[in-house]
Amino acid sequence: MSKKLFPFFIVICTLLIFTSCKQETSDDVIKVGQFTSLTGSEATFGISSDNGLKLAVEEVNQSGGVLGKKIELITADNQGKTNETITVVEKLINRDKVIAIIGEVASSRSIAAAPICEKYKIPMISPASTNPEVTAIGEYIFRVCFIDPFQATVMSKFALNSMKIKKIAVLIDQKNAYSTGLADNFQRVFKEMGGVITAVQKYSAGDKDFKAQLTDIKNSNPEAIFIPGYYTDVNLISIQARDLGITVPLLGGDGWESPQLLDGKAKDALEGCFFSTHVSIEDPNPKVQNFIAKYKEKYGETPDAMALLSYDAGHILFEAIKKAGSTNNEAIRDALAKTVDFAGVTGSITINEQRNAVKPAVVMMVHDGKFTYKETIAP
Ligand code: PHE
Repeated sequence: MSKKLFPFFIVICTLLIFTSCKQETSDDVIKVGQFTSLTGSEATFGISSDNGLKLAVEEVNQSGGVLGKKIELITADNQGKTNETITVVEKLINRDKVIAIIGEVASSRSIAAAPICEKYKIPMISPASTNPEVTAIGEYIFRVCFIDPFQATVMSKFALNSMKIKKIAVLIDQKNAYSTGLADNFQRVFKEMGGVITAVQKYSAGDKDFKAQLTDIKNSNPEAIFIPGYYTDVNLISIQARDLGITVPLLGGDGWESPQLLDGKAKDALEGCFFSTHVSIEDPNPKVQNFIAKYKEKYGETPDAMALLSYDAGHILFEAIKKAGSTNNEAIRDALAKTVDFAGVTGSITINEQRNAVKPAVVMMVHDGKFTYKETIAP
């Protein structure tokens, strides 16, 4: 290079370095990641939670954002698959550089993602995963819902005290962490409270024929069947149970919660059945009703529990970033851990030492093709 051109070369190099640095540090947005099942067999879980979270993001941005910056939500569809979950969460952290992550509904997929968030020290908040293992993975992992040992107690109490029944059979989705965990807890608690488990049978999500298991259960003469699975399978199970002449009520947990639970003949098959979940949309609390009105206006349909929980997860995170006063991961983690009496649409949320929310559950009944509120059971 000629001596004459050298100074220009230096100027251009300096400019290039300067602009590239500027691009990397110019963050007028705060990036938050979400991994969820927008497609796949449990797509209603993902779509609802995404809708709820988007509403929270919209609200916070309209009211000036967080630390003077807008929240940018980056959503990754894991297609309801565990392997895909690992891939998309790695990408959210390493490619998109999100500062915190919200997800997932299904416990098995939260359990897959949590070790990655923990490794990179990225705060993760599950809106709706109830298996205790999720938050036990590490100090960066939180949830805004109750856990399954409590849900098991709720349904045990409801069966014994409200339904006055003592003999229950259990049907488990054997490869689903949520189902196996809730089933174990239910059997333990129900027996401790004086109940009797008449039979335990298993299936795998996606099975189409449950007749063998249901026949065995029928022969054990239970007064109800506890099915801690997802709505997709419970829909078919309920129809086949009635075809086999099983008339006793079926009971379940939050995994039942989807309008698709009642598709087709299941609407009649599940009449008079009960499940526990996080919130009832019949709750007269103005906070709940305002949220429902807003949600209906934006999406044209009634929200389910996942939408409300994700909305709360979003606002709890935004509050924590504000309190932290920075996007530093450790500071956000500490602020999340200090969440006390946060007035959410799913109730008052306090994060305990195990990074779980302690809050009541509701029991819903299927009646006239709809979910009707039955009772609230406090922790
Ligand atoms: N609690 C379920 C799980 O851990 C997920 C779920 C939450 C499903 C809320 C429906 C409603 O897998």
